[in-house]
Amino acid sequence: MIISLIVAVPENGVIGKNNQLIWHLPKDMKFFMETTSNHPVIMGRKNYESIPEKYRPLKNRENIIITRNKRFKADGCTVVHSLEDSIQYVKNNISTKEVFIIGGGEIYKRFLDKDLIDRMYITHIKSTFDGDTYFPKLDFNKWTSSKIMTHKKDDQNPHDFEVVVYNKKN
Ligand SMILES: NC(=O)c1ccc[n+]([C@@H]2O[C@H](COP(=O)([O-])OP(=O)(O)OC[C@H]3O[C@@H](n4cnc5c(N)ncnc54)[C@H](OP(=O)(O)O)[C@@H]3O)[C@@H](O)[C@H]2O)c1
Repeated sequence: MIISLIVAVPENGVIGKNNQLIWHLPKDMKFFMETTSNHPVIMGRKNYESIPEKYRPLKNRENIIITRNKRFKADGCTVVHSLEDSIQYVKNNISTKEVFIIGGGEIYKRFLDKDLIDRMYITHIKSTFDGDTYFPKLDFNKWTSSKIMTHKKDDQNPHDFEVVVYNKKN
């Protein structure tokens, strides 16, 4: 099973502010929904709570939440208490070729620090933003890359962006 990460990152690495997304890019949101649909998604408790109530749990995929809080519950979601348990849960219970780590900042960093990520889908947004949550700095020499989408800003999507898939080198 491939462990993938999916994230949108502007030029200065800011990925969130006040536990919310900062930008509105429906085309990238559509890419996220289509890419992760029918696959399990793993997220931090704060990221889960940042999703507007009407959209959570994310539909058509099993939502797995990581928290240290043993009393935490979320309707329709699986709750686990470590990174390793989240992966073990998927391996034991779900038939899938790929699982997606969907953030936020702390969860991305912990999975990357433990070298648990095989593939990354990164939307590089060609702008900078103010915020309080960052995507970790990466050594891109450790990854092969292939650009799969280029978007020029339009009325609905006010920033240029490109989507690049990175696979970890052996
Ligand atoms: N741009 C993007 O693509 C993108 C994607 C996703 C999220 N975001 C943004 O990221 C922000 C949220 O990120 P965040 O860094 O604040 O929080 P987070 O990574 O979503 O969640 C952090 C929480 O995860 C739990 N956790 C972390 N490590 C753990 C471990 N080793 N064992 C057990 N539980 C652990 C803890 O929950 P407890 O405190 O409950 O113990 C911790 O408080 C929001 O602003 C969101 O909009 C951006």
